[in-house]
Amino acid sequence: MPVRPGRTLSLVAIRSSARLGAIPRYEPGLTTAEVLARFGLDRAVKLASNESPFPPLPEVAEVVAAGVAGLNRYPDGPGRALRRALAERHGVGPDEVVLGNGSCELILLAGQALLDPGTTVVHAAPSFALYPHLAAAAGAEAVAVPLAADDGHDLDAMAAAVDERTRLVLVCNPNNPTGAYRGADEIERFLDALPEDVAVLVDEAYFEFVDRPDAGRTMSLARERSNLLVTRTFSKAHGLCGLRVGYGVGAAGWIDALDRVRQPFNTNALAQSAALESLRHPAALERRVRETVAERARVQRALAETSRAVTPSQGNFVLVAPEDAAVGSPSVHEQLLRLGVIVRDGASLGCPGRIRVSIGTPEENTVFLSARAQLAGPAPRESQPGRTRP
Ligand SMILES: Cc1ncc(COP(=O)(O)O)c(C=O)c1O
Repeated sequence: MPVRPGRTLSLVAIRSSARLGAIPRYEPGLTTAEVLARFGLDRAVKLASNESPFPPLPEVAEVVAAGVAGLNRYPDGPGRALRRALAERHGVGPDEVVLGNGSCELILLAGQALLDPGTTVVHAAPSFALYPHLAAAAGAEAVAVPLAADDGHDLDAMAAAVDERTRLVLVCNPNNPTGAYRGADEIERFLDALPEDVAVLVDEAYFEFVDRPDAGRTMSLARERSNLLVTRTFSKAHGLCGLRVGYGVGAAGWIDALDRVRQPFNTNALAQSAALESLRHPAALERRVRETVAERARVQRALAETSRAVTPSQGNFVLVAPEDAAVGSPSVHEQLLRLGVIVRDGASLGCPGRIRVSIGTPEENTVFLSARAQLAGPAPRESQPGRTRP
């Protein structure tokens, strides 16, 4: 029956899966436009979604612009050229690489391919907000293992939570929202402790920002172990989150499982060519990553002066418990919004009383630090945060 204009469709009016009500909604952060309108501001900085502050590289922008002319054609379904390039980079065959509409899609597809009612998926909590979705969508059980005292995964407890019903284990490294990192040796010991037929997905969305000597070694484990898939993304360091492209590297069995459940043209043509081009400019990428890592250190140092707790981060974001004086009502998150600084409220990430701030440009970070200092008491030292319109 045609829908009359102006009629509001309601979920209760349609027959839906009994699981639907249990599936958590992914709550996006506030947009800059929403914050400007709500608080009558003339400018705001957005440090809430762990995005790159840098626009795509000029060469990437050119490739995207040129690709528009071919949009009347379907993309290459399996994304052969990008798969080949990624396979070469990681020393695996093209059948050991899978592409996703962002790495989010691959994580969701893993749930779809592997979980059934009566099975479990083990993940840490608090961790990436998407993970609880998998069990709920499949009618499986989520076993959420609390983080260790250092805000990193409690890998021993996670291994202990795996039983004969477990089909999938998710490890977020570095962990979002805390930024804590587990070294490759710890990951390897963890994998050794699990049954070989339990699938493990290590989500390395923030891998480029890890400044430890063992960064990236988990990928070599994916070449050796048939139960391991490592996912990465072009959304963060490559600055292409608007195009949606991520990938996974793992044994052919893992890749085959995800290829079966994905839609045929899951990554679009512009995303494929942009990702391919971005891979051709490692030096430019490295410069951007180095700037973010240096800024992360500056922000952490500044926060540590007055905050109760700053979790040492290996991502492009920092989780912090603001100083006691500034905690209260309205929350620090709300007070920062009023000053035109959009960060993520820890309460929405399972970390009440804390805020997660993404690392932006040096100027944006200074605006955040000044606003935070203003809330803590002293007058802003550096630049002036967003002004309220008269
Ligand atoms: C831990 C983690 N994994 C995966 C993603 C998804 O990234 P995308 O789907 O853009 O590749 C994010 C995004 O914020 C994330 O924080």
